[in-house]
Amino acid sequence: APDGQAPTPPMGWSSWNKFAEHIDDQTIRGIADALVSSGLRDAGYVYVNIDDGWQGRRDAHGVLQPNPRFPDMKALANYVHARGLKLGIYSSPGPRTCAGYEGSYGHVEQDAQTWAAWGIDYLKYDLCSGEGIFRQPQEVRLAYQQMGQALRATGRRIVYSLCQYGRDDVGSWGREVGGHLWRTTGDIEDKYEVMARIGFDRNGNPAHAGPGGWNDPDMLEAGNGGMSEDEYRTHMSLWALSAAPLLLGNDVRDMSARTLALLLNREVIAIDQDALGRQGKALRKAGTTEIWTKPLADGSVAVGLFNRDAQMHEIAFSPAEAGMPDGAAIRDVWRGASIKGSEHTFKVPAHGVVLLRLSRVGSG
Ligand code: DGJ
Repeated sequence: APDGQAPTPPMGWSSWNKFAEHIDDQTIRGIADALVSSGLRDAGYVYVNIDDGWQGRRDAHGVLQPNPRFPDMKALANYVHARGLKLGIYSSPGPRTCAGYEGSYGHVEQDAQTWAAWGIDYLKYDLCSGEGIFRQPQEVRLAYQQMGQALRATGRRIVYSLCQYGRDDVGSWGREVGGHLWRTTGDIEDKYEVMARIGFDRNGNPAHAGPGGWNDPDMLEAGNGGMSEDEYRTHMSLWALSAAPLLLGNDVRDMSARTLALLLNREVIAIDQDALGRQGKALRKAGTTEIWTKPLADGSVAVGLFNRDAQMHEIAFSPAEAGMPDGAAIRDVWRGASIKGSEHTFKVPAHGVVLLRLSRVGSG
């Protein structure tokens, strides 16, 4: 049942893509500080999510302890909260997480209570070793449902992220088990081919997405260095048009001005976070080019002109294709400029995108 959480796709940062298990209290605090000082928090990136690698052992009462790299989780949550941010954590329904740490198997209610007591605001629940235990789709679903119930029973508002790599048509039941987002794919990598395969082809059924429940094509790699700037613009544009969660995966303590500009583009974020909550999709594919559209709450339409080829292509586009009048106002979002004239052929760089926002003129 809808609980009012995640009315728009969650935004924030997660430790995994950059740091994997090499995380500690100081790093997380530094990230929180950097989200504030960079302006990323104020642009909406509010979740600071600790992924795999924080866990220690259980005590004599079965209470899960953090490992020594995280001396005091409640203090860390307080630190994060004091900066206007929220803290996320990670576990598995199986006995072990993917990186071999303690999972929540047999301790579902207990772990939910522990996290709530620390002040946790977000859980990513990653199937991992549960794959060998919950074999039938119904068993997997039940395992996710049990944690969903346990989180609700804490009385704390905790965003619930399902991570079982998009199997068993998770989009059709993710909401019912209390999920606010569910992964649609295996892991992203900081490589154009992997990002493009996910972003163009594996971002989930748009019919399942909407306020309170989102397809999750995995966390962002923008800024990690493995793609060109045009490729990262494609990454951000695809995720925004797909109404995907925007979870930064780079070291925001140490990034270039160009990376920050990429992550902080308010018009791109506004497309992702649009209140209508519709997931965009491809309108037309021709060879290596794709035109995507996403309808927006104010009656405007976001349009992505994508070039999947390794050389420049020209893409012709008219507002009528997106159901807009010929005289629609056209904003080039990445250039931050309005487009004049009615000749609409765009030069789109290799692996790049031109992202547009079309509005009806004089409609307020
Ligand atoms: C697999 C997930 O898909 C990743 O996002 C990450 O959480 C790792 N597990 C952590 O072990």
